[in-house]
Amino acid sequence: MAATPLRIAVWDWLIRGFHWGLVASFLVAWASTRGLPSTRWHEPAGYAVMALLALRLVWGLAGSHYARFAQFVRPAGAVLGYARLVLRGRAPRYIGHNPLGGWMVLALLATAAFTALTGWLFTTARFWGSDAMALAHEASAWALLVLACLHVVGVIVTSIQHREHLLGAMIHGRKALPRDGDVS
Ligand code: HEM
Ligand code: HEM
Repeated sequence: MAATPLRIAVWDWLIRGFHWGLVASFLVAWASTRGLPSTRWHEPAGYAVMALLALRLVWGLAGSHYARFAQFVRPAGAVLGYARLVLRGRAPRYIGHNPLGGWMVLALLATAAFTALTGWLFTTARFWGSDAMALAHEASAWALLVLACLHVVGVIVTSIQHREHLLGAMIHGRKALPRDGDVS
């Protein structure tokens, strides 16, 4: 007799590859502005971010269940209601992204796209040497850094509230099966 699985597959290999590829390219893009390992790594790392975002966009529209934007982007009312429950320590567990996390995902994707786009535009003949473009690029790179830090705080808070290893789930892709009161 086959054993009943204790865990559910949530993040497919593409989501996990995308996530850790994005983290690596983002860190290299930042570190290279400080010469680590070399400033020559900046543009390739930025282009890697662009390629990963394009892939994620397609997967968000036509990918696996928990990867789809339609699965985790919820209306403002639901997000506010969820935020109130988080503050009271009574938020339900979500199998995919929770309502706050879903909007954070969109904010991270949009800010990463804007950062990479303005970086590329700065290298084109049209915007070469443009102070405004350089400012837009640097400001959005800082905004992305702040959002990424808030994102990690959100992951830690949710992991504690639900006693669930969310980082592990983003590595092996699996979570504990839904229990009563969970939202899948
Ligand atoms: C998410 C991806 C990216 C991040 C986080 C990022 C971050 C940054 C940061 C923080 C700076 C300011 C460096 C300083 O302190 O002077 C910078 C500058 C620059 N970046 Fe990016 N960047 C990204 C993508 C790109 C891409 C795709 C390109 C071009 C293909 C690019 C081209 C440049 C250039 C040319 C500058 C120098 C601008 C100037 O002279 O003020 N970046 N980037
Ligand atoms: C090392 C620090 C990081 C850790 C531990 C981490 C962890 C995680 C975890 C656990 C999730 C799943 C959240 C959930 O269960 O709903 C996630 C999702 C995500 N993270 Fe991170 N993250 C880190 C850094 C970053 C950075 C630097 C970025 C962007 C620059 C980023 C962008 C994202 C995005 C876009 C998603 C959504 C994944 C998807 O649906 O495609 N993360 N992260």
